[in-house]
Amino acid sequence: MCGIVGYVGESNALPIVASGLKNLEYRGYDSAGVALSTDGRLDVFKSEGEIDDLELPESHPSTCGIGHTRWSTHGEPSDANSHPHTDCTGDISVVHNGIIDNYEALKNELSDHEFTSETDTEVVPHLLEETYDGDDLVSAVEHVVAQLDGSFALAVTAADHDGIVAARRDSPLVLGFCDDGNFVASDVTAFLEHTREVAFLEDGDVAALTDDSVTVRSAGERVERERQTVDWEADSAEKAGYEHYMLKEIHEQPQALRQTISGRLDVVNGEVDLELDLPEQYLQSVEEIQIVACGTSYHAGLYARRLLEEHADVRTSVEIASEYEFTGGRDPWRTLVVAVSQSGETADTLRAMRTASAAGARTLALTNTVGSTAAREADDVVYIRAGPEIGVAATKTFAAQVTTLALLTVEVGRTRGALSGDRASTLLENVRGIPGAIQQVLDADESIRDVAREYADSDAFFFIGRKLGMPVSLEGALKLKEISYLHAEGFAGGELKHGTLALVTEDTPVLAVLTDGANASETLRNVKEVESRGAPVVGASSLENAESFLDASFTVPELGGLEPLVANVYLQLFAYHVADELGRNIDKPRNLAKSVTVE
Ligand code: M6R
Repeated sequence: MCGIVGYVGESNALPIVASGLKNLEYRGYDSAGVALSTDGRLDVFKSEGEIDDLELPESHPSTCGIGHTRWSTHGEPSDANSHPHTDCTGDISVVHNGIIDNYEALKNELSDHEFTSETDTEVVPHLLEETYDGDDLVSAVEHVVAQLDGSFALAVTAADHDGIVAARRDSPLVLGFCDDGNFVASDVTAFLEHTREVAFLEDGDVAALTDDSVTVRSAGERVERERQTVDWEADSAEKAGYEHYMLKEIHEQPQALRQTISGRLDVVNGEVDLELDLPEQYLQSVEEIQIVACGTSYHAGLYARRLLEEHADVRTSVEIASEYEFTGGRDPWRTLVVAVSQSGETADTLRAMRTASAAGARTLALTNTVGSTAAREADDVVYIRAGPEIGVAATKTFAAQVTTLALLTVEVGRTRGALSGDRASTLLENVRGIPGAIQQVLDADESIRDVAREYADSDAFFFIGRKLGMPVSLEGALKLKEISYLHAEGFAGGELKHGTLALVTEDTPVLAVLTDGANASETLRNVKEVESRGAPVVGASSLENAESFLDASFTVPELGGLEPLVANVYLQLFAYHVADELGRNIDKPRNLAKSVTVE
């Protein structure tokens, strides 16, 4: 996620804002920038790359500044796309986290303004230029944010304004108070060395910061936000109070997925807008979609295969990227190759993509990383917008990959005439429900921890599920083994009796996906098979009375067949708590790297 820090006070702003940016580095970023206002002048320094690459002056007289670390969602990482963004006069500067869904429409209305970037953010300073009369920046910001659709945390400074105005909707912002000034930031880490006195802004708030006052308004009325003292150490603040990045990222899933789908769904008409350049005729003539990916991304591909075959009526194969050269490249002219990769840098996936491309197939990269090699080399690209993932174990990016692939399914299905508007609307309504359903699972975190602790000393674990529950079983097992170092295997439920049942004992817990979308009643037969061998069974279930026949049961809210994606969050938490109980190095498991850039 992008990071924001702003300071106004009695001290020199430059070193404070610059060190705030360094404190936000852990969030991941591809560019950075600072705006400093002083005596009617605004100076902006920004560039692609590391904070250390920013060409900042040795000193600057300003006592009011805003800074930003950018993780690209619109437009490549570049100097021009870095924040802060300014209006035509260069006197108003803005930093932004989130996505402004209606930026194109707003930009069209600002045709007499000169835009210098490809970002959604840049509409904000230009809208402010239209509204701000040089007197009341707070009212101008209130007026502008009312025109924005989407999510945002904004910080604004202007050359002639003595302070910072900040606003939030669906993207966090926190205020910090100290003796010689006030802060606003996307999280407390940014200013922890200066103060632990904070107040969290709420959706709809607009805050006005000066060197000696902070006022907050909501819907035009003055409101008070409770001041609190945080007792976090810098390290835990980076993790928002969670013990590990993995746990933080698991809990970030609702917010990440809202970002994934933001501005892309037209539920009423059953349409999606992924800003793809795939010609209609081409999509109609495609005979096969080949998904190439590794590890967790491969499991997301397996999930998508079912969706594409069921809703878009297109034959879909999923190839382990490192095997693609032996199996892929069939009938390239009628094949769309979709490379799924969080990092966009996985060597095996890049190689598969290049093999497909050389054979003449059209390639589409589905990635989290703007400007990555996959994004640059593919014919088309769609971003999953999950924000940076720091834990080696992929969690929120799996959910965002599957969600984006569900949207791709709608696009392909509608274009091919395989999916009616009504069915597409229903599917999209369910996609829109994923963040809320995942939140319900997260709320049960403590009971999952208790069950995980109970089984943490087991010999081995088996995961079973069918249909959409099958890739989730594979993913559940992968998560557990990579961070706990325990033996775990995932299967299509029906496959267990063809060999692995021999390993099932009272010491091998079985985790079962028993939800809609996972053919629960058939999977239940497999549950009986393992129970009769004495194995304890933990279920993520939407079956009635599941607790009466399972050793532990976690309820998955209904979601029109997409439940297995939600059930997966139980498995993520289960893996996390087992590994935590065993004292493993969860964010950096042994022998593994976040991005595997060797074949
Ligand atoms: O960046 P990618 O999605 O291409 O990475 C592929 C795999 O290395 C990755 O999904 C890996 O399996 C996960 N980090 C495991 O949690």
